[in-house]
Amino acid sequence: MFECLLWLEETGSTQDLLKEGNFPYGTLVVANKQKKGRGRKGRRWESREGGLYFSFVLRDDDFREFLQIPLAVSLGICEFLETLDIKAKIKWPNDVYLMGRKLAGVLAEKSGKKIVVGVGINLNQEEFPPDIESRSISLKLATGKGWDKRDFFSGLLDNLKRVLEAYAKGGFKEIRNRVKGKLLYLGCEVFLFSDDQTFRGTFKDIDDKGFLILETEKGNLTLPCGEVSLREVI
Ligand code: ATP
Ligand code: BTN
Repeated sequence: MFECLLWLEETGSTQDLLKEGNFPYGTLVVANKQKKGRGRKGRRWESREGGLYFSFVLRDDDFREFLQIPLAVSLGICEFLETLDIKAKIKWPNDVYLMGRKLAGVLAEKSGKKIVVGVGINLNQEEFPPDIESRSISLKLATGKGWDKRDFFSGLLDNLKRVLEAYAKGGFKEIRNRVKGKLLYLGCEVFLFSDDQTFRGTFKDIDDKGFLILETEKGNLTLPCGEVSLREVI
């Protein structure tokens, strides 16, 4: 699955590089810094020195359930962190949280027959810009020690490979229970914001497609993974 690796000191966005260039399936690009790191909907992804930023190319035909890819990748990240004794959670549908703050974000985009997946993990940053400071965390800030980026990346890839292979073979239902076991806000009262709607209810479950089941006053709603944001009602 991961065949060829390019490790750059700096680029605009590893995501754009793989989308625009003609790289074969299985290519991975890592950058130590990104000038134009981005999240979903073109939101900025803060990509200063210290973080781990990478993207890789998958074959569209191997992953028919496209919407669930960020959940599968988030699971791979959490399960790898668990081997390091770090208990992170998946914030449905595309983030990893630690101590109530964002540790990592995942982005999956289609580009012709390719799927380009991007991952940003806050590894060794010691501070964040003021606008995201209260909502962000790095592994170094959480554990009080620095992490070797190469070792971390190599261990993470082994985990991601295993999860993605299981998911490609058996579909999301193959990993559903593992994802469910790591969901942030499960059982809690939440808001879900989409472009034009806001939903409020109890985060009951996810189904075999990874879609969120929200219990509302009007009954259960099933909300597809996609460009939605989840917030706890406080
Ligand atoms: P959330 O609900 O976790 O804030 P979201 O759904 O609103 O996420 P996403 O598209 O998942 O938004 O993530 C992009 C957002 O993440 C940015 O708008 C910014 O607030 C935040 N962010 C940017 N860079 C980082 C970073 N390095 N670490 C943590 N958070 C970041
Ligand atoms: C999100 O939470 O919205 C997803 C963030 C994804 C960030 C990664 S960093 C590597 C790759 N290159 C980018 O420009 N974005 C992704």
